[in-house]
Amino acid sequence: MGLKEGKKATIGIFDSGVGGLSVWRELVKILPYNNFIYFSDSAYCPYGPRPQEEIIERACKITDFLISQGADIIVVACNTATAAAIEALREKYTLSFVGMEPAVKPAALHSKTGVIGVLATKGTFKGKLYSRTLQKFASDLRVVEQVGYGLVELVEAGKTSEEDTSKILGQYILPMIALGADHIVLGCTHYPFLRDEIQKIAGDNVIIVDPAPAVARHTFELLSEKNLIGKEQTDSLHQTVFYSTGNIENLVRMARRIQQSLPDECFKEKLI
Ligand code: DGL
Repeated sequence: MGLKEGKKATIGIFDSGVGGLSVWRELVKILPYNNFIYFSDSAYCPYGPRPQEEIIERACKITDFLISQGADIIVVACNTATAAAIEALREKYTLSFVGMEPAVKPAALHSKTGVIGVLATKGTFKGKLYSRTLQKFASDLRVVEQVGYGLVELVEAGKTSEEDTSKILGQYILPMIALGADHIVLGCTHYPFLRDEIQKIAGDNVIIVDPAPAVARHTFELLSEKNLIGKEQTDSLHQTVFYSTGNIENLVRMARRIQQSLPDECFKEKLI
């Protein structure tokens, strides 16, 4: 559905903020010769506490913009926006959307203790997608759910390893460990930027699950079916244009943590 065959696809990505960069980071690794448009809806960040209708409205506005800039496929690099809006997006538009799903399945499959922790936003926990996933893969497991209050804001502020951040993470992670969790699922795309801190608190024996590599692989497969992958022989190395509806500085700082050489010209403020 939606993908035209045979050209090198431009991939649109959006999130409420910088979190989706954790997905972009994986996408550029496996699609180094495709182009990307990253959209950070910072003026509306965080999405977690917002009503579903508002998130759908934002997702549609962003989709319209990404299409106007040439996106051929859209990765909704935000668990909260996926939970709230992916059905509405798929109904409204003909192009393909790839969504995020909390990686409960691999955690459940590999858990030895039968206990897993899930850290996500309120919006993601409330979504149908999450409850369906739980029913399907984790019905005989103990799932310790924790809303990551305040974490998105800390990552947006670039505070990924400060003392305050560790303190808050300790309050969320230590109870999971005390209950025997051997896997912690990162159910928000901002949280992979806190991975080192989470691992320190949880200890080396606990596996932290980030769904971004699987989402990137899925995107690769969709594009590959239609022959839309850029190639080393014929295409130039990927370029990304980054847009933000709010403060662009966070986006520049976090994107350059991943790819230091990104030039100033690829960052733009855009109110929609
Ligand atoms: N990165 C978003 C997610 O994956 C952040 C949610 C928010 O803005 O509250 O859920």
